[in-house]
Amino acid sequence: MNERIPILHARNLYKIYEKGEEKVYALDGVDFELYKGEMVAVMGASGSGKSTLLNVLGALDSPTRGGIRIHGKEAKNYHVEPNATKYRSQNIGFVFQNFNLLKDLTVEDNLALPLILKNMGDKVISQKVEEMILLVGLDGRQKHRPVELSGGQQQRVAIARALITSPPVLLADEPTGNLDYNTSIEILEMILKIKESMNQSIIMVTHDPKVATYADRVIFLHDGKLVDEYRKSEKKGHMDEILNKTKKILEG
Ligand SMILES: Nc1ncnc2c1ncn2[C@@H]1O[C@H](COP(=O)(O)OP(=O)(O)OP(=O)(O)O)[C@@H](O)[C@H]1O
Ligand SMILES: [Mg+2]
Repeated sequence: MNERIPILHARNLYKIYEKGEEKVYALDGVDFELYKGEMVAVMGASGSGKSTLLNVLGALDSPTRGGIRIHGKEAKNYHVEPNATKYRSQNIGFVFQNFNLLKDLTVEDNLALPLILKNMGDKVISQKVEEMILLVGLDGRQKHRPVELSGGQQQRVAIARALITSPPVLLADEPTGNLDYNTSIEILEMILKIKESMNQSIIMVTHDPKVATYADRVIFLHDGKLVDEYRKSEKKGHMDEILNKTKKILEG
């Protein structure tokens, strides 16, 4: 396998909204490569296009122009049904700020659902569900419903559900946005552990420079354009560098 082929390559993505005469370029020619095992944080001001980028990469939304290559192969019309459903189910796991669990289902049933949709057998399903429950530290909570869990626990379930089908790419939109500081750190540490043990590729949107310090690379969006990039360095003070870049971009 050629390691230099990106697991996901977004090619010249545009998303243009037309409001009467006015056009909003939510994505304005974004080119972006994600490599196997890499965690990339997407930062930028409110309205800069972060969620749009994630939704377009995940085929929850369609680009106006541009395309995606997965492992070097063009995902033709990936955003058009029935391709979009197949693209998502083969390639993408999603985690959202609001957890988006099914409230009437128990933890284990929430986790089983993506596998049921893939027509897996009962035995494999219970095995995988149990594995993921242990991985995210929710043993003993199998029969709980989402309302019976804390925010952090709900996000653990959501992360387990996103990863249970072993998708090549995990897309997370502000995964710690609804959590307090300590819980956010716990969740990020868990994501990092999973990234390292499973070599999981991750794209994570965040407002928070502290969250971005967990990433191998930080990209900055401004008005739908990728305007800067920062690679994690081992030296002390890279948090300050991310903060400085964020400030510079926010101040235009
Ligand atoms: N359905 C839509 N119709 C029209 N304009 C939209 C639509 N969705 C998003 N936009 C516009 O696209 C731009 C990018 O929005 P997006 O939600 O991607 O921003 P964001 O960076 O995720 O912001 P936030 O940090 O507030 O979540 C904004 O100007 C927004 O108003
Ligand atoms: Mg957003």
